[in-house]
Amino acid sequence: MHTLREINDLRSTLRDYRKRGQRIALVPTMGNLHAGHLALVAAARQHADIVVASLFVNPMQFGPNEDLDGYPRTFADDQAKLTDAGCDVLFSPTVSALYPHGLASQTRVHVPDVGEGLCGGSRPGHFDGVSTVVTMLFNLVQPDIACFGEKDYQQLAVIRKFVRDLHMPIEIIGVPIVRAEDGLALSSRNGYLSANERAMAPTLYRILCELRDALEQGEPAETALGRGLARLVDAGFTPDYLELRDTQLKPVSATTREAVLLAAAKLGPARLLDNLSVQLP
Ligand code: PAJ
Repeated sequence: MHTLREINDLRSTLRDYRKRGQRIALVPTMGNLHAGHLALVAAARQHADIVVASLFVNPMQFGPNEDLDGYPRTFADDQAKLTDAGCDVLFSPTVSALYPHGLASQTRVHVPDVGEGLCGGSRPGHFDGVSTVVTMLFNLVQPDIACFGEKDYQQLAVIRKFVRDLHMPIEIIGVPIVRAEDGLALSSRNGYLSANERAMAPTLYRILCELRDALEQGEPAETALGRGLARLVDAGFTPDYLELRDTQLKPVSATTREAVLLAAAKLGPARLLDNLSVQLP
């Protein structure tokens, strides 16, 4: 695996692959890799000849009081995991390489509608940061396909929208959530949890499963979601949101059949994110 830090090295390496007609897949990450990230690499492998992973803790997508400084950085470990997973190129630029003029004057990509509410509501500016850095990575790598996890359901919807709106010739592939045995969605932020909090954390998934079953049995969303919020609070979570939306993240209507239940909740120092699809009767 080539590990590259410079934009010029990335461009010249990829030029050679492209000249040979090889299909390129990109897997963007912020590192501290786990089996969820590696599932994206495996999906990328299935769709392309060359797999490029990026590792960049993107300051633009963190709010002023968020965990940018404390975000887990485990470069050597990540590099070994990507090598084992059969990744061809690891691109890990510095902050000053991607943002040479700083963040304040940086051009941004803003995605309206689908980027508002949910995580866009509780983390103002977050999706502008994600959309800007992913656009930049798409321009640098010019991949044929790119893989993202369904765990970050709204992020995936935001990326699909700007790719469509800006006519980027890139196929976006969504990869199902990888969970621990007890149901907790894998996340780099799970490492912030104490042993007690880690034992409580799968309650979020269990509550989502219970609500899904109740909604599929025909319980009205309002009563199910109200009960879910109360149960989250009882279990020690501080919910950011618990919502039922259609698969495009629009409000559900009487005719909606395919829906998604989305939750974000703080547990101690970690903000946990999860979602589950629901077939409404
Ligand atoms: P990060 O949190 O490192 O996640 C990188 C990719 O891994 C995202 O597409 C995310 O949805 C996916 N992922 C994380 N946990 C997963 C799980 N349990 N199952 C399946 N996929 C999972 O998301 C980001 O980084 C950043 O916002 C980024 C897109 C890299 C832009 O900076």
